[in-house]
Parts: sequence; C-alpha cells; structure tokens
Amino acid sequence: MQPLLEAIKISHAFDYPLFSNISLLLYPKQSVAIVGVSGSGKSTLLHILATLLKPQSGVVKVFGQEIYQKDQKRLLKIRREKIGIVFQSHYLFKGFSAYENIEVASLLTKQPIDEELIERFGIAKVMQKRVTELSGGEQQRVSIARVLTKRPRIIFADEPTGNLDKKTATEVMDVVFDYIKEHNSALFLVTHDMQLARLCDSVYRLENEKLILL
Ligand SMILES: Nc1ncnc2c1ncn2[C@@H]1O[C@H](COP(=O)(O)OP(=O)(O)OP(=O)(O)O)[C@@H](O)[C@H]1O
Ligand SMILES: [Mg+2]
Repeated sequence: MQPLLEAIKISHAFDYPLFSNISLLLYPKQSVAIVGVSGSGKSTLLHILATLLKPQSGVVKVFGQEIYQKDQKRLLKIRREKIGIVFQSHYLFKGFSAYENIEVASLLTKQPIDEELIERFGIAKVMQKRVTELSGGEQQRVSIARVLTKRPRIIFADEPTGNLDKKTATEVMDVVFDYIKEHNSALFLVTHDMQLARLCDSVYRLENEKLILL
C-alpha cells in the first residue's frame, strides 16, 4: 500500500536546530500523534508536512509526489483538495457566521455540507452565530467541521482540542477517527494531551531534534 505521506530525512532550524534527519510514514486509516515540550518544533514539523513550509533539507512526498518540487499553483491545488489543516490558533473568517465558514469549504471543494457531522460536533445550534460570538471551544469545533467538510485525505491537526473539556474533546476526536477510517484518510495530530495522543495508532515525542517512538 502506498503511504499518503512520506517524510524523508527532514531537517529544519530557526534560531536553533529543531529537528534533523527525521523520517515518518503515514498510511491510509492511520493516525500519528506528536507530543513534546513547547518550542520543540511540533507546529513547524506540521507546517512542513502539510505543504506550508519547505524544510531546509529532506523530502516530503504526498501521494508519492515530492511536494516542494512543485510550482505554487500545483502545491496550492494539492493543499486545497487533499489536505485539511486545523491550526493551533483557528483561522475562521471573523465577519462570517459559523455556517458561512463551513459553506466556504464546501463551495471551494464542491463537497456537500454534512449535517450529521455538525450535529455530532454539538454546534448545530450556533451555526447562525457570528464567529466572534462563539466560545473558544465552539470556534475550535467549527474549524474542525470546516476542515472535514473538504473531505481531505490527510488531516493535520495542531492542538485541535485545546479549548475543549475532556468529554467534548473525546467526542470530537471520535468523529475525526471515524472520518479517517471511513474515507481512507490519515491523521497527523499534535497535542500536549497524552491521553488523547494514546488514541492514535502511534505516538512520538519530538525531543533532542529526533522523533522518539513512545
Ligand atoms: N516563522 C518562524 N520564524 C522564526 N522562528 C520561528 C518561526 N516559527 C517558529 N519559530 C521558532 O521555532 C521554535 C519552535 O516553534 P514551534 O511553533 O514549532 O514549537 P511547538 O513545539 O509547536 O511549540 P508549542 O507547543 O508551544 O506550540 C520556537 O522557538 C519558535 O520561536
Ligand atoms: Mg505549536
């Protein structure tokens, strides 16, 4: 089976080296969690794997294709159609309602809005509210619903449940796990919550510039 995502000997540094020569494979229906102290480079790694940041060295393949060899237009197409990113600070369109935010994803990718998903996320009753009127946890759930609406093959989620209580977090993540099983997709999750990380197929800690399998 071809991996959905392949990272080969990735290295990156900002003010100091974050990681060097790390490799990772992600197969359909598979979920991987990354933990590590603040500043260890988890979000940077996520951005590199999610088509947003070219690593200083190494190769990233999505569906067998080297993404950073592609021109911006092709890269954007892959990002738009195949990849879903839940950012650490959620980037919803502030002047829009929750529904309109999800509608944008639906229009861009020509995928229908899944009402059941919205129901399962417990956000049906706030769909007409403006983003600025939502609680932090509601915003977070709208961002995840928006990402799933695109029907991505790979979901990158950076601390997606940081604003949620344990029960809601588990419910939301159950929807995401069901999604990847149903759609042959994969999940790359960054979290500080070890209990949540343990729900993934494998857990790595980013430490001393390496990924350590826990
Ligand atoms: N665009 C950038 N320019 C310069 N330095 C950056 C940039 N992005 C991140 N850094 C630095 O790289 C380091 C790792 O940042 P990163 O956001 O990857 O950490 P993290 O593991 O996600 O931390 P947290 O758990 O706090 O989210 C930090 O020291 C940060 O200041
Ligand atoms: Mg981070």
